[in-house]
Amino acid sequence: MVETVAGEAVDALGWEHLVPPDLRGRTVVVTGASDGIGRESALHLARWGARLVLPVRDRRAASDIRGLLDGERADLVNVAGVVSPGRRETVDGFELLLGVNALAPMLLTESLLPVVRERVVLVTSHAHTSGRMDHDDPHFRRTRWTLPRAYSRAKLTAMLWGLDLGARMPAGTQVQLTHPGWVVTNLQNASGHARVDRLVTMASRPLAMTAAQGAAAVLFSLTQPLPPGSYVGPDGWQHLRGRPTLIRRSARALDRGEAARTVAWMRREVGLDGTAPGRAGPA
Ligand SMILES: NC(=O)c1ccc[n+]([C@@H]2O[C@H](COP(=O)([O-])OP(=O)(O)OC[C@H]3O[C@@H](n4cnc5c(N)ncnc54)[C@H](OP(=O)(O)O)[C@@H]3O)[C@@H](O)[C@H]2O)c1
Repeated sequence: MVETVAGEAVDALGWEHLVPPDLRGRTVVVTGASDGIGRESALHLARWGARLVLPVRDRRAASDIRGLLDGERADLVNVAGVVSPGRRETVDGFELLLGVNALAPMLLTESLLPVVRERVVLVTSHAHTSGRMDHDDPHFRRTRWTLPRAYSRAKLTAMLWGLDLGARMPAGTQVQLTHPGWVVTNLQNASGHARVDRLVTMASRPLAMTAAQGAAAVLFSLTQPLPPGSYVGPDGWQHLRGRPTLIRRSARALDRGEAARTVAWMRREVGLDGTAPGRAGPA
C-alpha cells in the first residue's frame, strides 16, 4: 500500500513523499485539455476526484477527452464546456482551483477571476528567458517573425502577466507559474513543415519527457503548498527534465514596470479595457 501511494505520487507529482490530493468537491478549469500536458493533467485531476471544466475548441477532441475521462471515474467528472471560436462563454458558480494551459488565456482567466477560490496556474515556459518584448511591434508586423522569437516572447508575456496578476489576486487566492520541461507533444509539430516536425519529434523522443511526466510540474503547482507567485519547473539540467521544484525566472520576467505596460497592452488587445479587441496600437 505504501509503495502504491509512493509510486502514484512519483507518477503524478514527481516526488514519492507527496500524497496524491483528494480533490472531491473542488472544481478545476483546464484549458488545452484535448492534448498533451493539459490532457494528462486533466486525467490525474479526474482520478483525484475534481469536477472538471474543459473548454475545448474542437467538438471531436471534446468527445475524445470525455471518453478518456469516463474511463477514469465517470461519477466525479463533468466535462462542461466546448468553447466555440470567437464566442464568449459564461461559466459561473465555481468553488475553485483554476488550471490554465495554452498560449492566450488572459481573457478567460481575467473573466473568471471573480469565481476563483484558490489559485490560477499559468503554464509558461523557460523559453521566456530568451524572450524580448517589443512594444512598437508586438505582433512582428514589421520585424522578422521566427517561431522561437514569437514563442519566447509569448512566454515572457505570460510570465509578466502572471507577475502583474499575482499582485491583483483577491485575498486568499494566488497565481502560480509553471514550466513543464521538455516534453514530447504536438508542440514539436509546429514548424509548418511535416518533415521537420517528424525529425524534431524523433530527436526529442528519447531525450524529452512524456506528456504524463510533463504534467507533474503543472499538478505540483496546482495542488502543493507554495509561496504565491512561485515559478515551478523540472530540477534537471537547464530545467529540461526532472522533478518539479522552485526554479529561477529571468530578470526580465521580474520587471514590474514592464509587467504593467505589457498587461495594459494585453487588456487593450482582448478588449478588457472597453475598446474593441485587436484594435490596440503600440503600447
Ligand atoms: N511540450 C513542451 O516541451 C513544453 C515546454 C514548455 C512549455 N510548454 C507549454 O505547455 C503548454 C501545453 O503544451 P503541450 O506541449 O501540451 O502542447 P499540445 O500537445 O500541442 O497541446 C496544446 C493544447 O492547447 C490547445 N490549443 C492550442 N492552441 C489553442 C488555441 N488557439 N485555442 C484553444 N486551444 C488551443 C490544443 O487544442 P487542440 O487540440 O484543439 O489543438 C491542445 O489541447 C503550452 O502552453 C506550451 O507552451 C510545453
